[in-house]
Amino acid sequence: MEGRGFYNANSAWQASGAATALSLFAEAASEVPLDDTEGPIVLADYGSSQGRNSLAPLRAAITELRSRVGPQRPIIVAHVDQPANDFATLFDVVDTAAGSYTSDEGNIFPCAVGRSFYRSVLPPDYVHLGWSSYAAHWLSRVPTRIPGHIYVPRATADARAAFTEQARSDWETFLSLRALELRPGGRLVIVAPALDDSATTPFAVLFDYANQALVDMVAEGTLHREERERMVVSAFQRTRTEAQAPFVDDRRFAGLTARSCTVSEVPDPSWLQFEQDRDQRALAARRAAFFRATFAPTLSDALDHRDADARKSFCNRLEAGLCQRLDDHVAPIATFAVTLLVVKE
Ligand SMILES: C[S@@+](CC[C@H](N)C(=O)[O-])C[C@H]1O[C@@H](n2cnc3c(N)ncnc32)[C@H](O)[C@@H]1O
Repeated sequence: MEGRGFYNANSAWQASGAATALSLFAEAASEVPLDDTEGPIVLADYGSSQGRNSLAPLRAAITELRSRVGPQRPIIVAHVDQPANDFATLFDVVDTAAGSYTSDEGNIFPCAVGRSFYRSVLPPDYVHLGWSSYAAHWLSRVPTRIPGHIYVPRATADARAAFTEQARSDWETFLSLRALELRPGGRLVIVAPALDDSATTPFAVLFDYANQALVDMVAEGTLHREERERMVVSAFQRTRTEAQAPFVDDRRFAGLTARSCTVSEVPDPSWLQFEQDRDQRALAARRAAFFRATFAPTLSDALDHRDADARKSFCNRLEAGLCQRLDDHVAPIATFAVTLLVVKE
């Protein structure tokens, strides 16, 4: 994600998707077994980015927990993300944002783990309640290039098969590791962008425009053809069937039981804003900034020169080109989110 708080400022789409799982997470907090001891209650936020979108779910869960244990029991919140994540912005937001889960709270201890969640990130039997929003669809590696495109749902059958296999393996790794970290009875809610049952998404239109903007950059000489060919968004949106696949036998996998798995439509927040202001340019600008904040940094990994200046000018040019391309797309772009609740039995 783009640093210096840019992701936080341009991630309303992810917030909208995460909101579909908020009540489920609060319910998990009301049900999770809390041992009798006075030891800390541990919450983990897997793939926190810069923290803004974690505040509402964590606050909702902590409100439930406080109603059960009172104000004295310490609560640890561990935010997990890649080492290069903008943790400085995260800690600032957690400390100072109006809606933070630390507001009016004395016994909350936020901390961070800078390590891939495809490795162990917390001790065994440690986590009471886990949350992961719009993160578990990012793959551990890019298994292959996507001819002519950057987006997996637009891949050829061969490339799509390689991504499907990588996503299957990563999903099992992610769940197995979280199973070790959860306490017995611990709960984990995962919400991630999804495909519908026919394995499609209206979201693909945004990636088509971005792909065209990259083609424009090659034509004008601001991007090399080889750089463009290496560019892939290394994320895999699962269908409900794919999300549930590890749980087919008795709904169990690696000591986890899947309590629920649903796919819901996520309203397009840019469009909701457009319905208020009717500003077509602002609509395109919001969508381009969202795309830049979320996907441009991963695309810039394919540049020949990856210093900060080269990345920044690539992101600037892509955002501008995409904004131009999006100018006449005056229609909502709905997406889907899959939400899974698992319990360590
Ligand atoms: C789209 S952001 C989501 C942030 C936030 N949870 C939200 O809902 O807005 C995805 C985050 O997942 C992180 N992420 C992706 N792969 C990861 C991995 N293997 N280990 C840890 N974090 C990862 C990214 O660095 C990024 O900060």
